[in-house]
Amino acid sequence: MSRSKYNFDEVVDRKSSNSIKWSGNDDLLPMWIADMDFKVADEILEAMKKTIDHGIIGYDDRPDSFYEAIIQWARTRYNWEIKKEWLVFTPGVVSGLSISVNAFSKEGDKVIIQPPVYPPFYSIIENNNRIVEENLLKNNGNRYEIDITDLENKIDEKTKMVIICNPHNPVGRVWKREELEVFGNLCVKNNIIMVSDDIHCDLVFKGHKYTPLASISDEFANNTITFMAPSKTFNIAGLFASVAIIPNEDLRKLYNEIIENMGIGHTNGLSIVGFEAAYKYGSSWFSEVLKYIEDNTDFAVDYISKNIPEVKVYKPEGTFLMWLDFSSLGKTSEEIDELLINKGKVQLNDGTAFGIGGEGFFRLNIGCPRKVLEDGLKRIRKAVQ
Ligand SMILES: Cc1ncc(COP(=O)(O)O)c(C=O)c1O
Repeated sequence: MSRSKYNFDEVVDRKSSNSIKWSGNDDLLPMWIADMDFKVADEILEAMKKTIDHGIIGYDDRPDSFYEAIIQWARTRYNWEIKKEWLVFTPGVVSGLSISVNAFSKEGDKVIIQPPVYPPFYSIIENNNRIVEENLLKNNGNRYEIDITDLENKIDEKTKMVIICNPHNPVGRVWKREELEVFGNLCVKNNIIMVSDDIHCDLVFKGHKYTPLASISDEFANNTITFMAPSKTFNIAGLFASVAIIPNEDLRKLYNEIIENMGIGHTNGLSIVGFEAAYKYGSSWFSEVLKYIEDNTDFAVDYISKNIPEVKVYKPEGTFLMWLDFSSLGKTSEEIDELLINKGKVQLNDGTAFGIGGEGFFRLNIGCPRKVLEDGLKRIRKAVQ
C-alpha cells in the first residue's frame, strides 16, 4: 500500500465507463492512450458536483477566477508572469494546434515538427494542406536532443511555423533553457512562429526543470504561442479545457478570429469549474501523484533492465509515458505489435505512428497503479520471450 494521503494503488474499474483506452477486449491490458488510471482529486470532483447539484446546466461564462487560477499556477511554479489578456480559451490542445496552423500559415507553407512525436502533429498539418518538414530528434543512446544543424538546413522561405513539444511526447525530454535558447534564436532569426505544446509541463521529475519557451525573453514571447492545460496534470483530459497563451496581440487576433468563426469559444460549465479547481486546489494531489509516477518509472526501468534485456529503456525526464526500444528483436513494428497483443495481451502505442524514428519503438503509459504496471511489464516480458 502507498503511504500517500491518496491511494494511487487503488484499481478503479474503467471497463464500465466509456473510456477509449479500456474499450478493447477484456483480456487485453491497455497501456496506450495518454490518460491515467488514477481517481481525480476530490477537490475537483466536489467543485463539479456542486455545479451538478445546482441543477441547471446553462450557458456559463468563464469568470476572472478561471483565468486567475492558471496565472497563479504559472507564477508560483514557473515564475512566469502571464497577463490575462494573453489567454485564449481553447477546447483541446490538438484543436488549438490546428487553429494555429490555420491562423499562422497558408496552404502549401511548411511547418516543422520534431519526430518521433505525438501523431496529431502530423495530421493537423497534412489535413490542413500544409507541408510537414521533419527535424528528426537525435537519439544519443540514452537521451534525445534537438538537431539544430538539421533544423537550420530545413528552414527555407516556405517555412512559417514550428511545433515544439515540451516536455516531449513520446521521448520524455524536458528541454533545458539553453537548448530552448538556441532553438528559439534560430526561429526568431528566420521569422518562424513557435507553437509550444506544453500540455505535459507539470509532469517533470526530480533534477529537471520545465522552462516556458515564451518566458525566456520578450522577443521569444512575441513569437510564441504556448498551450497549457490541467488535463494531463490532474487526469481530467475528458473536460477538454485548455488555454493558448499568446502575448503578441496581432497573433492573438488571428487566432481569435478562427475561434469566433468556428463558434467554439464557449466552455462547458463543468469544465470551467474543473479547470479552476484543479489549479487552485489540486496541488497536494498533484505533488503526490507526481511522486507516484516517478516511482513507477523507476520501477519500470528496474524491472525491464533486470527481466527484459531485449528491450532498451531509459528513465524519462517527465510525462507518464515511456519510450521503449524493441529493435534488438530484429522484427518489424507490426510483428512486435502482434506479439504484444496476441501473446502478451498488452496494448502499447506502436512507435511508427509517431513518425520517423519510431520503427521498433513502443510507447508505454505508466500512469496506473503499481500492480497494474507490474502486470503490464510481465505481459511485455511474455510477449518477447
Ligand atoms: C503532446 C500532446 N499534446 C496534446 C495532447 C492532447 O490534447 P487534447 O486532448 O487537449 O487535445 C496530448 C495527449 O496525449 C499530448 O500528449
